[in-house]
Amino acid sequence: MQIVHTIADLREKLSGFKRPAFVPTMGNLHDGHIALVKQAKPLGDVTVSSIFVNRLQFAPHEDFDSYPRTLDADAQRLEAAGCDLVFAPREKDLYPEPQSYKVHPANDLADILEGHFRPGFFIGVSTVVMKLFSCVFAGMPTGVAAFGKKDYQQVMVVRRMVQQFALPIEILAGETQRAEDGLALSSRNGYLSPAERAEAAQLSVALKALGIAAKAAQPAELPALEAQAMQALARRGWKPDYLTVRRRADLQPPHGALADQSLVVLGAAKLGHTRLIDNLEI
Ligand code: PAF
Repeated sequence: MQIVHTIADLREKLSGFKRPAFVPTMGNLHDGHIALVKQAKPLGDVTVSSIFVNRLQFAPHEDFDSYPRTLDADAQRLEAAGCDLVFAPREKDLYPEPQSYKVHPANDLADILEGHFRPGFFIGVSTVVMKLFSCVFAGMPTGVAAFGKKDYQQVMVVRRMVQQFALPIEILAGETQRAEDGLALSSRNGYLSPAERAEAAQLSVALKALGIAAKAAQPAELPALEAQAMQALARRGWKPDYLTVRRRADLQPPHGALADQSLVVLGAAKLGHTRLIDNLEI
């Protein structure tokens, strides 16, 4: 496995390949990232992962500075998973000048849920993903890029971007990997104190309970069920941003008989200083 830092070196190493399998990450890798690499690998002729903590998707009060940077450990895990090439640009390599051209995803998808609580987040994500795609896939006839379903809305934003810009890239959505108690794996779990870690699985428990209740409910009853689910978490010491049942197709609130629809329950809540997100397809 080779590690490159510049766009020019990346493109040189990729010349001769025709279908990269690409897993973009911000590093501090866990089993969820590794599962994505293993899933993507057989779908391409070269496996590439990027490690870049993207300032554009962090608000000034968020954890950009403290986000764990663990390149050596990440590289070892990627090599063991069969990755061929790691692209780990420094900020000046990816953004040699301020990134003043940005991708603005459609408001109906990008300004709700995560986009509502983290304004500009999906502009930052879409912009860096478009740029990374351009670094990895320019000149390639096709390619595949893998994203984890834990970031459900992110996968949808990226899928729509690929469709809207007619990029010849297949998007693979990998299942969320969980700890034994149900906590979705996330780089941010490392921020949790032991007591918070013991509590953290309650987010997935709450999503599951809301999903079960929703399936037996009428659409008009959903707001009350969602409010109850948030209150229950708040009583345990969480600060929930949202727990909500949405249509999988567009993340809008469902209408009509809920039992017949493809739905997803999504949640985001703060435990201490750590904001966790999770979701469950029902
Ligand atoms: O999901 C992430 O780790 C990031 O949002 C991504 C897709 C690597 C873009 O920075």
